[in-house]
Amino acid sequence: MITQNEASLPQASARPGAPVQDGTVDMLLTFADSLSTEERTALRSLMCVITQQVCPAGEFPSDPVQLARFRQALMVLGTIQRHPRMTSNGVIYRGRPAFLTDDFLTALQREANEEVRPRAIWQRGHMLGVSGTLADKLAMSPEMQTLIEQASGPINATGVASYLFYEVEGAGVSAHVDTEVFSINVSIMLRHEGIHRRSRLFIFNMDGMQREDIELVPGEMIVTFGDSIVHGRSPLAAGELVNIVTFGYQPANWVA
Ligand SMILES: [Fe+2]
Repeated sequence: MITQNEASLPQASARPGAPVQDGTVDMLLTFADSLSTEERTALRSLMCVITQQVCPAGEFPSDPVQLARFRQALMVLGTIQRHPRMTSNGVIYRGRPAFLTDDFLTALQREANEEVRPRAIWQRGHMLGVSGTLADKLAMSPEMQTLIEQASGPINATGVASYLFYEVEGAGVSAHVDTEVFSINVSIMLRHEGIHRRSRLFIFNMDGMQREDIELVPGEMIVTFGDSIVHGRSPLAAGELVNIVTFGYQPANWVA
């Protein structure tokens, strides 16, 4: 179930052309079903590399051959994990959960700034701070588990919580697919500030026909099948600041 805030509907950037219809995807998925877990993981990694090579800046490839390969990889990545509740863009929840009160949001913002930011380390486009007293507790909370399971089905919490700080012009994350620690990725926007707030979460639909640019407002949470969608964060403008806390979950009884 997707809860959509009227004020922050995603903007879409469509790419002309027909969806993938050449049978390659079906062939690859049939092939994937014949593989061992390790072999399937290797195939998934290969698809990830292809998307990163042909879509380094989060834009559709202009070359028709690369575009076709990109769409094939998107479709394989969107399907190979066999999530029963997969959606066209991997989003399974978006909104402001009841447990995320104004006071709790303020407390998370304070934890981010005062406890975590001083020990955060630079990691490819942003500062990363793993763990935090409140974030760790929220990662394992029954309220969070219940909300996610309503959208995804049964899950196991990995207990991984990370604060991400984007603070300089050009900061962001290039197009990628999450690791299986973040098979189900939960992200809460804590702060988005600046005169020019242009950075967005972008997600390519698995049919490769559209890229959605999603603006989250502070307190808003989004849950995606992060291991199945090619996504990233577009670059910050000068003076812009984005702070997010993310959590990783996995489907219950799931053999990756
Ligand atoms: Fe990600």
